[in-house]
Amino acid sequence: MSKLMPASAIGTPFERLDGELKVRGTAPYAYEQPVENPVHLYPVLSTVARGRVERVETAEAEAIDGVLTILTAETAPRLADSSDRELAVLQDASVGYRGQIVAAVLAETPETAREAAAAVQVTYTEEPFTAQLRADDPALYAPEELNAGIPTDSSQGDFDGAFDTAALRINATYSTPPEHNNPLEPHVTVAQWNGTVLTLWDSTQGVHAVRDTVAQVLGLEEEQVRVIAPHVGGGFGSKGMPHVQVVMAALAAQVTDGRPVKFPVSRQQMYTLTSHRTPTIQHVRLGAADDGRLSAMSLDILEHTSRIKEFAEQTPAPFRMMYASPNRRTTTRLAPLDIPVPSWMRAPGECPGMFGPEVAMDELAAAAGLDPIELRRRNEPEVDPETGNPFSSRHLLECFDLGAERFGWQNRVARPRSVQEDGWLVGMGTASAVYPFMRQPANTARIRYEQDGVYSVQIGAADIGTGSWTALTQIAADALRVPVNRIRLGIGDTRFPKASVAGGSSGTASWGGTIIAAARAFREDHGEHPSPGAQTEAQPPEDPEAADLALYSFGAHFAEVRIHADTGEIRVPRMLGVFSAGRIINPRTARSQFLGAMTMGLGMALHEQGVLDPRFGIFVNSDLAEYHIPTNADVLDMEALWIEDHDEHAGPLGARGIGEIGIVGSAAAIANAAYNASGTRIRDLPLTADKFL
Ligand code: MOS
Repeated sequence: MSKLMPASAIGTPFERLDGELKVRGTAPYAYEQPVENPVHLYPVLSTVARGRVERVETAEAEAIDGVLTILTAETAPRLADSSDRELAVLQDASVGYRGQIVAAVLAETPETAREAAAAVQVTYTEEPFTAQLRADDPALYAPEELNAGIPTDSSQGDFDGAFDTAALRINATYSTPPEHNNPLEPHVTVAQWNGTVLTLWDSTQGVHAVRDTVAQVLGLEEEQVRVIAPHVGGGFGSKGMPHVQVVMAALAAQVTDGRPVKFPVSRQQMYTLTSHRTPTIQHVRLGAADDGRLSAMSLDILEHTSRIKEFAEQTPAPFRMMYASPNRRTTTRLAPLDIPVPSWMRAPGECPGMFGPEVAMDELAAAAGLDPIELRRRNEPEVDPETGNPFSSRHLLECFDLGAERFGWQNRVARPRSVQEDGWLVGMGTASAVYPFMRQPANTARIRYEQDGVYSVQIGAADIGTGSWTALTQIAADALRVPVNRIRLGIGDTRFPKASVAGGSSGTASWGGTIIAAARAFREDHGEHPSPGAQTEAQPPEDPEAADLALYSFGAHFAEVRIHADTGEIRVPRMLGVFSAGRIINPRTARSQFLGAMTMGLGMALHEQGVLDPRFGIFVNSDLAEYHIPTNADVLDMEALWIEDHDEHAGPLGARGIGEIGIVGSAAAIANAAYNASGTRIRDLPLTADKFL
């Protein structure tokens, strides 16, 4: 390497470039974007789960000083496309779930809007509804395909025959409850319509996704919609697809004579308006020889969806590719319920889909008298069992080996309920993690050399708190062979070239690969000494070989659990995750991603549970006082490590993404540790104290 080359920015643990702004509270989030003379929106939500709005009595609310107008299904502007019933707000009288928007107050202050919303009286005709996922629901159906275009069912070989004759059999049902994305920043949209252009300051994981949807639903040209989101306070998938508040704010902006409309969704409203993770019932059957080698695997999944809009999570996806077995099948069936619309939540599919199977593997290890890591070693596939394609990189066992060493796995006592300290039952557990690499090809980046010697690098990407602002700057600096302080990154605006959503852990790899391609094209166009104003836009090249490879990240989770023998109180003093996720761009922000996801896994294991009351069709614990997530007192010694892994088929960057794999399998590791500690096998999340008594 030439002495003139700057040291590589990739691999350096830079602090977040936007960190100081955020810590000082000066980073403008959607709600804080400076707009003049805003109007404030507060929604009125349905109090029945299914039926029709018969009458909306607004006179009392309209009489309140400062109320501008009240939109109802009768008075709201019409949408051009009402086919998406989640987004078709105030377009007809039907009610599809309790907590749906049935009117919206526009007022001079947020307080006035809220007060007036409480004074709106709505009368309904109620219809019978169903709000309970039941295995015997006659309405259960097979969706045409699962999220991300994954086939609904799969079958290879003869599962039934192989299972019937297997020496060892695990046959158990597991469940995960509804879970709620709880980003720190609730969803919010500020909308302004000037008669030609609709500007949306939105808290979103993808400005272009919002633009495209809003243009379609409102019947506008894409150029007429601008979406701006420089800073986003988390999303966990719930800001990946636009939800109803975006359309509501956009509609309202059409009746305010150009005044911007602010619609901040409250924490409680998020539980119905901005999606949740579907609950799952997972029937797992594993058949194996005495030595633990799998001969038969099946997974039958039941989930709920909303009757007004289908969301079919890809829950069986990891089960199809994780372990070798000649005979295997999966099915997924959905119950259409009169409930809020479920959607993505961190590692949709993979996260719940690795819970039952990874606990079942622990049960099989016990039945075979094998160490759980050894069981996985014996079931490593040569190639992807689902497609027959070779893996681009599969370092699952290296993750287990390193993790076992660091965690002190050799100190685990295999026989459950063997270790007791001061009244606490102590145990260790492990589970695998996996996440697919989902590179998004349709990205474009723009690079311009500026007068001040800085490169402007622009792409409509998002930083949802992950550190992508920093990571992309590092990637751009290396690609343009300059220090990071000569990069001016522009993201979070549809004025920048079109980019994919920050979802599927694909962001940094996809956008970063695009920036590398654009930097190469820029040098070809303008040489090493460009003139100010020199500009290039480019897309990344396709990798023809990648289509014939299975691209996945892998990991191994380890957990220590302590359960109080008298009270059932459960604590997780130690967690370790070891990952192989391709190249790591920024070790500091990467570690945060892993730890954040493992913390969410801890929440999934111990705390999180949306309680859907079937009598009313509502999530009754719709705030952070009653929907529990881990706090500092719950997160004790938690560490994330990774092994070096530059995946040459994962785009020009060699990175496969880190946002989601940390949650996958983590709850199973904790449940397995809880079994080792207590001898009680809990198959239904969360692992609350009562279940150990
Ligand atoms: Mo993530 S749930 O793919 O935004």
